[in-house]
Formats: sequence, C-alpha cells, structure tokens
Amino acid sequence: MIDVRALPKAELHLHIEGTFEPELIFEIAERNRVAVPYPNVDALRAAYDFSNLQSFLNVYYAGMNVLREERDYYDLTAAYLRRAVTEGIRHAEIFFDPQAHVKRGVPFDTIVGGIRSALESGERELGISSHLIMCFLRDFSEESAMQTLDVALRNRDRIVAVGLDSSETGNPPAKFARVFERARSEGFRTVAHAGEEGPPEYIVEALDVLNVSRIDHGIRCMEDAALVERLRDERVPLTVCPLSNLRLRVVPSIEEHPLHAMLEAGLVATVNSDDPAYFGGYVSENYARVASALHLSVSDLTMLAQNSFEASFLDPQKRRQFTDEIEVFRAATLQDARLRRANPQAVP
Ligand code: ADE
Ligand code: ZN
Repeated sequence: MIDVRALPKAELHLHIEGTFEPELIFEIAERNRVAVPYPNVDALRAAYDFSNLQSFLNVYYAGMNVLREERDYYDLTAAYLRRAVTEGIRHAEIFFDPQAHVKRGVPFDTIVGGIRSALESGERELGISSHLIMCFLRDFSEESAMQTLDVALRNRDRIVAVGLDSSETGNPPAKFARVFERARSEGFRTVAHAGEEGPPEYIVEALDVLNVSRIDHGIRCMEDAALVERLRDERVPLTVCPLSNLRLRVVPSIEEHPLHAMLEAGLVATVNSDDPAYFGGYVSENYARVASALHLSVSDLTMLAQNSFEASFLDPQKRRQFTDEIEVFRAATLQDARLRRANPQAVP
C-alpha cells in the first residue's frame, strides 16, 4: 500500500477561494460584520449539494463575499498552506479570481497583497514553494478581462500566469483571444479551464486560439480520439480534479472516472483538488479515491506525482529536485512491499 499523503506532489489546480472552509467563513464574516445567508456552519455545509458547475459557482461566489480586508486574504491562504503541508504538497500553483472581489469594491492590491504575503510566509516557515495564477471569469466581458490585465501588469512580478475559469458552457475560449495574446506578449504563461462541462472543441480552441500550455480539467478530450493523440504527442498537461468532477456531476462515479484511461492513453494527467472545501477532499483524498476506485498501481500514482512537477511552471533545477524525491519515495515503497511479501509477520 502506498501512503498517498507522504507522496511528494505539486498541486496545479486549486482556487484559493475554493479552500474557504465554513468555520473560517463565519469567523471572518463576524469580524467584518457581514451577514452569511445561512444560520450556522452545519447549514452552510448542508447547502454543498450541487447539480452542476453553475449551482456550485453560486455558492462559491456567495462564500467569498465576506472577504474584505488584506488580513482576510492572508488568513484564507495561510489556512490552505497549513493544510497543504500535511498533504505532501511541495509546490502549489494557486488560482485567484480578482474580478469576483474587485466588483464588490475590494482593491486589487488588497487581494494580491494578502495572498502574496501568506505565500511568502508559507515558503519561509513551511517550505512550500508557490506561484500565483490570475484567472479571468469567462462569463464576464472581454473588456472587463482586459481591464483586469491592465491592473495585473502593475503586479507583474507577483503573478506567473493567467487562466480562464467560471461558467464554461456558452463562453468559449475564443471570446478571450485578444486578452490572452496580450498576456502572452507581456510574458505571462497561460492556462485555461476547458472540457470540464464544455465540449472537446473548447479544448482545441484553448490550444489553437489562446495558445495555452496547460489545460485545466480537460477530461472531455476522451470523446475525441484525434485530440487525445494530439495532447499525447504534444505532451500538453491536463490538471484533472476527480472529486470536483464527481460533486459537479461531470462523472457519475469515481469508478467511471476517465483518469486511468487518460494515463493509459499516454496523457500527462495530474491529480488536483480544485475547490477542496466544497468538494469533500484535499489533494491526497483525490489520490486515495482514484487509487482505490480505479485500482491504480504504485507506478501509476508516482507517475501522477512526476507529471505534476513536469507540468508545473517551476524552473528545471527545482523540478528535478522534486522528481528525485519521488524516485526515493517510490524505491522505499517498493522495498517495503517486497519485505511485506517475504515476511508478513516481521513488518508492522
Ligand atoms: N471556479 C472555481 N472552481 C471552478 C471550476 N471547477 N470550474 C470553473 N470555474 C471554477
Ligand atoms: Zn477549477
């Protein structure tokens, strides 16, 4: 048996606002004297019964409404990092949705200031490396995304990449062609949610029109054999989020999740948690659930972790340091399994 919590890994698909646990929502709401439309933590958790992506997004945007001050963004991020250490996460590439805060009157610098200083403390005190990815809300206009990019350029050194999230259906990647072109010309890396609820054509568009280097979710690529071949040949990473797919009813069960088939097709798939406070599990729980339901081997699981570093925006030297760590972990796990087989009584 593999200890998935101890497996060194990178988390590449994590919305910081999606780590907002109900206890912290109520604590910050009280501090800021903002009302929460639920009487208590249990009632709020009971509302986490989603029928699709939009039904989740409604609750997700309502939850983040209590975030007002720099300290709130710091506390939210610091809480995630404390949890990340226990999950074997060595490096996290973290999304945030500035438009969802700026439209409520929170200044961009307040959001980024709080998140960044928590990430810096996390690096210093917990040893977690991190990057920040700014997402555009695809159900907002191109003009709003362009204005957000203008503001982000003033924080150029604190954001490595831009992404695209929120309601997918009816908001194809091409809507943001000019925004992504400008972001790339300014030196940002680019990623996009595509093929979560939306069709495989959105994945093709994200690659051809937005020129992204990574696809978030992307599981619907499995409906298009030519696209699978292309993703495999070009080694385009896919940041898969199994528990999210289950809770948003993109897949009927974890047993029917396409992750194993994606690995068998040679895709650079990774496992991530998306919005763990809402979907019932952080990244190790995602690994554990697919390991058991899809009968993944030690090699499959270490491959997923290797992929997470290969797909990251880390520099090659740091990437190598982490992938070497996985090799040590893999050798120790296999040795332990051999000892258990040879002498089941002697090994605790
Ligand atoms: N924002 C937060 N989580 C998301 C998801 N799973 N898909 C699209 N947008 C999101
Ligand atoms: Zn997401």
